[in-house]
Amino acid sequence: MKVDVLLGLQWGDEGKGKIVDVLTPNYNIITRFQGGPNAGHTLEFNNVKHVLHTIPSGIFRKNTINIIGNGVVIDPVIFKKEIFDLKQPDIDFTKIIYISKKAHLILPTHKILDAASEQAKGKSKIGSTLKGIGPTYMDKTGRNGLRIGDIISDNFINRYNALKQKHLNLIKQYNFNFDITESEKEWFKAIEFIKNYKFIDSENYINESLNNNKTILAEGAQGTLLDIDFGTYPFVTSSNTICAGACTGLGVAPNKIGEVFGIFKAYCTRVGSGPFPTELFDNDGKKLQNIGHEFGATTGRPRRCGWLDLVALKYAVTINGVTRLYMMKTDVLDSFDTIKVATAYKINNKIIKHFPYELSNDIKPIYSELKGWKTDLTKINSKNDFPDELNDYIKFIEENIGVPIKIVSVGPDRKQTIHI
Ligand code: GDP
Ligand code: IMO
Ligand code: MG
Repeated sequence: MKVDVLLGLQWGDEGKGKIVDVLTPNYNIITRFQGGPNAGHTLEFNNVKHVLHTIPSGIFRKNTINIIGNGVVIDPVIFKKEIFDLKQPDIDFTKIIYISKKAHLILPTHKILDAASEQAKGKSKIGSTLKGIGPTYMDKTGRNGLRIGDIISDNFINRYNALKQKHLNLIKQYNFNFDITESEKEWFKAIEFIKNYKFIDSENYINESLNNNKTILAEGAQGTLLDIDFGTYPFVTSSNTICAGACTGLGVAPNKIGEVFGIFKAYCTRVGSGPFPTELFDNDGKKLQNIGHEFGATTGRPRRCGWLDLVALKYAVTINGVTRLYMMKTDVLDSFDTIKVATAYKINNKIIKHFPYELSNDIKPIYSELKGWKTDLTKINSKNDFPDELNDYIKFIEENIGVPIKIVSVGPDRKQTIHI
């Protein structure tokens, strides 16, 4: 068997959580491969909304194992809270969530470093979620980090103290006030809590599962345009959010990757700083934000909104080797008379069709205009009921990108998912 990968093609929040939940009945194992509690994955069923940060989105389906892979960074305090927020005391989650021994730990001081670094950047701040993601991955690549597997070692406390001291020395360089007395206590309590979970050599577990014909879905976090290498650097996150990240974040060989499901919104959003060529500052932008409830699932910050950008989407599809596209939040466009889609950029009077090195301020999207469908899609159950204008929209995207759209999502609920 091979690992299927599901990932975001824009700046995150495309609706990954919802679709992983929808697809989970087809899989034995769901696994996260990168990112950490900067992610906020929402899923909805029976009129209840759930937001997950570290736990894979397969958690609400029976008979599924959920693995937190080696590429993920874990804040034990957030993990513990997430388990309680699942509000299912009758389920023993220690039996269905396994954690890679090689996943790195987010320390209280990583979060302080994140906040201090952002404050020092001033106007050029990244707009980080302040969950300590950047500093934790810096310690990973700097070979200073603490991993889940270290928790059970005899000298864990000494190693924690040594790393904390390193951080305190670094924080001195910033003019930043902080107090971690309480958060440190919480952190150590959460470390005791997380010890109840199975720490595994997830690369072995996953490869053995593949050999035993188990089906596995890897759940991406963030989106391609936030990838550390291929995103809009430096306004990105600190991990490889792309398909290749599933190989390094799980220990799966490239030839063991199967289908790659690329998720995108029928329009586009971004939270935090950084360039966004199709961003709207007018009423249409406000309308997208209101109808789409575009407020961050992790931080509650308003998301910036704009039209779909096919230049960026094509780039993302190429980098990831996407085999199927899933279009999300299509219903948010229900009331628009016309819908715009960017098919090229104009920079210094030159038209370009590729995603450039830098998205400078003088970049102008070139739009095609399509007729809106002016139909309530949220109650539609079949593609046979799609209005013609929606079929035209789908066709336009498929022809530009060269990959078929296989799911059209028409609402936040599990059931509001139309398979094509
Ligand atoms: P993720 O980070 O990719 O999992 O996405 P988020 O959960 O951060 O943001 C997606 C938001 O859109 C959530 O509030 C979802 O409940 C909601 N959502 C997902 N799919 C749809 C859809 O098709 N229509 C509408 N209206 N909302 C959706
Ligand atoms: P999901 O998985 C949207 C953004 C932050 C910031 C930048 C860096 O829910 O799609 P970080 O905390 O990683 O240092 O922040 O990345 N960001 C996200 N935006 N969805 C996410 O995750 C994000 N995770 C990080 O807003 O601009
Ligand atoms: Mg999100």
